[in-house]
Amino acid sequence: MADEASNPELMDKLVSLCKRRGFVFPSSEIYGGFNGFWDYGPYGCRMKRAVEALWWKEMVETRDNIEGLDSTIIANPTIWKASGHIDQFSDLMTDCKTCKARHRVDQMDDPTTCPACGSKDLTEPKEFNLMMKTFVGPVFDDEHVAYLRAESCQPIFVDFHSVRVAARQKLPFGVAQVGKAFRNEINPRNFTFRSREFTQMEMEFFCDGDEGMKWFEYWKEQRINYYKKLGFSDDNMRIYVHEKLAHYAKAAIDIEVKFPFGWGELEGVHHRGTWDLSQHSKFSGEDLSYFDHDNHRTIMPTVIETSVGVDRTMLALLANAYDEDVAATKKEGQEEDVRVVLHLPALVAPIQVAFLPQSKKLSENAHALCKTFERYFRCEFDETGSIGKRYRRQDEIGTPYCVTFDFDSLNDNAVTVRDRDTMQQERVGITQLRDYLEGKIGF
Ligand code: GAP
Repeated sequence: MADEASNPELMDKLVSLCKRRGFVFPSSEIYGGFNGFWDYGPYGCRMKRAVEALWWKEMVETRDNIEGLDSTIIANPTIWKASGHIDQFSDLMTDCKTCKARHRVDQMDDPTTCPACGSKDLTEPKEFNLMMKTFVGPVFDDEHVAYLRAESCQPIFVDFHSVRVAARQKLPFGVAQVGKAFRNEINPRNFTFRSREFTQMEMEFFCDGDEGMKWFEYWKEQRINYYKKLGFSDDNMRIYVHEKLAHYAKAAIDIEVKFPFGWGELEGVHHRGTWDLSQHSKFSGEDLSYFDHDNHRTIMPTVIETSVGVDRTMLALLANAYDEDVAATKKEGQEEDVRVVLHLPALVAPIQVAFLPQSKKLSENAHALCKTFERYFRCEFDETGSIGKRYRRQDEIGTPYCVTFDFDSLNDNAVTVRDRDTMQQERVGITQLRDYLEGKIGF
């Protein structure tokens, strides 16, 4: 639903830039596309990997008490019975008998009227399960039904003991996973915001229930600070505190940011109590409780979850970064000249450093420099068009630094580094260039 933060023009511009410059485009486009599925192109997948790597570094690699997991997308279907997805993961739907449109009842302003055509001739609302079904094995019958996972966290609960024992972890500790999730969303919409196939980055933190709220507050703060470092502020980020909680949950918040269609959920931080491990203990018959050696007692660990979508992170970053700079480039008597620029944080920009020879005569030198730097940064070499055009190309994909190798470079062994945001240029010795860029590209 549109709100005061909605900016449909920005969405159109982003969708068009994403397609034109190879960030994101519709899946199976030559076949007319496939609603709710998106492909990431060359710049998109560089950025996607960078977003995932940054999260992984922040959540796993720089912490002693978080372990990683890479589980399968399809697993024993009883998992989804235990988690409640088979019985409860559904939306209430109604069909319009006049225009045949299908609607989610909770999203209709007036549940008796079709929002598409105004007809009152609607079917009785019925439950529509969001799990994606498949079959495993040679026979396609009910006994061989399996599901594509609807969230990446369930295997973390199922593998709780295996990870804990293998990694010799004691409570409190967490397990993180980045991976695909699938939901048969009724109305995929708002570009990649609500897709049917998407990537989640989830971390489940297991702790003693007595300390549950302490850890909930800790993770809430950690995650908010993370987004602050990525350029979100009080202007475009807010916290939604859930008042209606699942019966097992003690607290839940959503980190919401401004998307082009208005405010939307980016990440959830949830106190899930002992629900998940208890359910999987019950359904599997394996006791997933934990013996606390320090206090000589057995407990069922409480779970604090942080869960965010990669696709939503990218959309939020792109929307926050998009800018059109008119005044800086308009010359008298000339038509308005718009510089489209993505002010992306350097750590997630698809290209961090572009190497541009001033003239094609210098291509070999600039290319060789680019090759050396590829080991340390995401780099691109571009020799076509005027320097101005090449800067524009890089601005549009959010490249924070352009390095120009010019004729002077042959003598002074230095290059000109141009900053995307300030457009200031600085002469830097080639031997200092790596340190100089590393100093700028930190988190
Ligand atoms: N394990 C908890 C869980 O999955 P969720 O709120 O359903 O909770 C968590 O999803 C995050 O996954 C969301 O905050 C969002 O970033 C992302 N997400 C959920 N559904 C999505 C969809 N259909 N398309 C894209 N991202 C989605």
